Amino acid sequence: MRKKQGEKFSSIKKSLEIFKKAEELIPGGTQLLSRRPRQAAYGVSPMVAERAKGGYFWDVDGNKYIDTVMAVDSVILGYCDPDVDKAVIEQIKKSTTFSLLHPIEVELAEEIIRTIPCAEMVRFGKGGGEADAVAIRIARGFTGRDKVAFCGYHGWHDWYISANLESSGNLNKYLLPNVPTKGVPKCLSGTAIPFEYNNLSSLKEVLEKNKEEVACVIMEPSKTNLPVKNYLNDVKELAHKYGALLIFDEINTGFRLALGGAQEFYDVTPDMAVFGKAMANGYPLTAVVGRRDVMEVSKDMFISSTFWDDNSTIAAGLACIRKIKREKVTDHIWKMGGRYAKGWNEIVRKLGIKAELKGFPCMTSIAFNYGNKSFVNQLNTLYCQELAKEGVFGYIGYSFNISFAHKEKEVDKVLEAAERALSVVKKAIDQGSVKGYLKAEESKPLFDKRMV
Ligand SMILES: Cc1ncc(COP(=O)(O)O)c(C=O)c1O
Repeated sequence: MRKKQGEKFSSIKKSLEIFKKAEELIPGGTQLLSRRPRQAAYGVSPMVAERAKGGYFWDVDGNKYIDTVMAVDSVILGYCDPDVDKAVIEQIKKSTTFSLLHPIEVELAEEIIRTIPCAEMVRFGKGGGEADAVAIRIARGFTGRDKVAFCGYHGWHDWYISANLESSGNLNKYLLPNVPTKGVPKCLSGTAIPFEYNNLSSLKEVLEKNKEEVACVIMEPSKTNLPVKNYLNDVKELAHKYGALLIFDEINTGFRLALGGAQEFYDVTPDMAVFGKAMANGYPLTAVVGRRDVMEVSKDMFISSTFWDDNSTIAAGLACIRKIKREKVTDHIWKMGGRYAKGWNEIVRKLGIKAELKGFPCMTSIAFNYGNKSFVNQLNTLYCQELAKEGVFGYIGYSFNISFAHKEKEVDKVLEAAERALSVVKKAIDQGSVKGYLKAEESKPLFDKRMV
């Protein structure tokens, strides 16, 4: 018997059984680190999903949840979107893969070029980290230089994780503390150099110290930090002054901040950009786009993969972008995000909790402002636990990745659940401890030595 959303949840027995088996067979249990159950309230939040529809999913124990994570931001229209799935099914009937190019790949390239300001040519791929690696390879090929200045999260590949070879804390601000470099060639040390967001001199220092060696500046144009006035334009100017290309990693901002990404929103056109996540409503599709002269260099480089021309995801991407345009999905996300942020901020104010939603209404994250990191971590876990009990699934510290399927009804349900969850959090704050409230295992950063 399935339980209805809103009922109290007692069992995640089947989730626990399946995940235990997964851990025996799959190192870490999941492929994406964020999908590991310790990213939510371990022992209370669901661990294994059975099916999903719109803004909801059901776990293997039959519990129904409103999903605030949405497959880590990749499902922008809602699960099993009828238009996207129809396009994929139509393509499956014709075959999704061929020994030749298929015309919809050209159609999608045209659609992307019409949509994204810097896009004059397009390369498709599957994973975001992989697409970032393609962009870096092209930049290195175009400039004949090896080094990369970065600011943000850019995936799992050697070029990026190598940043921690020179100093083990180089990725702390952009990814996680203590990211290990095991398996990354030591000879890459010093080739990926971080710079600080909203601090032009920090980038200048990197470019000055590595004169004529930096191929590109790659960055997330904004996350929950917003750029100070003219910052992105100044970054572009500085990169060009030193002969480096500017790449925006728009894997998060793409289609969410604006249809044409952050580059459209802030009116700063980079030389290249990388899109993924929301591009195909959860089907694995990414795009590296950019200036014709830069992109064209890749035709004479070895950047090639069998499944990059797979047409099931291309069909999904085409249907997804067209629906985002047709239904003004970006406007919807901003509107619902505004409703949610206003409601959430009112709740914490009313309860007297020192917390805020950071970022734009369409891309927020939760910050409990209680200084002590460990206590904040416990509060985040408790909040996540209480939401799960209310039938709302979230990750620790996550806010709400609103999709087109989340209408006012869902947003208000999440706010009602948040109010009940935050009332419990407030009790723990007043008590100065989560003792007696936290039933889940306290979350720990992924590479924390205390992690099992
Ligand atoms: C900005 C950014 N770049 C790269 C990636 C890596 O993408 P993927 O997980 O698809 O490899 C992510 C994923 O969260 C991201 O947010």
